[in-house]
Amino acid sequence: MQRPTLDALLRLYHKYAGDLAAARRSQRELLFGAGRSMRAKLDDIEAEVTYLLLRERRPSTVVEIGTFDGWSTTWILTALRDNGCGELRSFDIRDGVLRHVPDELAGDRWRFTAGDVRGMGMVESIPPSTDYLFLDAAHSAAFARWYLAELFPRLGSGVAEISSDPVQPPPIPRGATPTPVYQRQPVVDLESGVPVDNREPVDESADGTLVSVHDVFHRRRPLPLSEGAVLLKWLADKGIDYFTPSARRAPLANARLRELRAELGLDEPIRAGRANPMVFFELP
Ligand SMILES: C[S@@+](CC[C@H](N)C(=O)[O-])C[C@H]1O[C@@H](n2cnc3c(N)ncnc32)[C@H](O)[C@@H]1O
Repeated sequence: MQRPTLDALLRLYHKYAGDLAAARRSQRELLFGAGRSMRAKLDDIEAEVTYLLLRERRPSTVVEIGTFDGWSTTWILTALRDNGCGELRSFDIRDGVLRHVPDELAGDRWRFTAGDVRGMGMVESIPPSTDYLFLDAAHSAAFARWYLAELFPRLGSGVAEISSDPVQPPPIPRGATPTPVYQRQPVVDLESGVPVDNREPVDESADGTLVSVHDVFHRRRPLPLSEGAVLLKWLADKGIDYFTPSARRAPLANARLRELRAELGLDEPIRAGRANPMVFFELP
């Protein structure tokens, strides 16, 4: 599996073009068939990137926090169905999703829990072996602080526990040479001259927990005191790179993806939104 970088995703668009076309068709039918009763939040590119990463990784366990009417739920379940393996555990305070997930998609691969994911016993029910965590719930700083402190340390190798002070980088033992994971030279956005965040990793092999968080980059920078601001600071402190297809944050990556989708005949809009503010990263 490859980390979510622009180059890796361009390859995945080619690799899964046929299946993605079919997934887009079935999602369009679901959304249009539901009429106004199904409100979809994920934009098309970020939904497709989610599908492609799930196809390539073939996860055993996916956790989704924030289903709303089930738009992201059905994208994720479509990828698991197409993989022929894997289960999804979804959480939401409200249970509107139950009206929208077709039985054939839910199969025995979907389990939904209604309630506040921060409530008693909820986080403990999230398996430490979760391969993919999809976060699209409360977009507040307080919610971000909750998952950074209570959920992330349970996943992957427990990266959040490397240092008890999130501002400090993890200590390097005396005499040890730190292993570079990413090239640190920033790639410059040709339009703005500003470094962008889609740096190529040196080592593209990956086996930690993939995470995606919605609604981070509606603008070039998240608002102060938002979920996005808290998350980005944490990622920077931990030295974890991310990918975003956001039109505002990464206009070149967004344009390249749109160009390839047009070449592959995958560009007819399903949703009107074009912001694609999601970030994708990997917990080591
Ligand atoms: C933006 S919507 C999710 C949209 C959905 N992912 C989609 O693609 O259409 C956010 C959802 O998160 C849920 N939510 C907010 N805070 C939550 C919490 N603490 N625990 C569980 N669900 C929560 C809300 O009830 C809402 O349905």
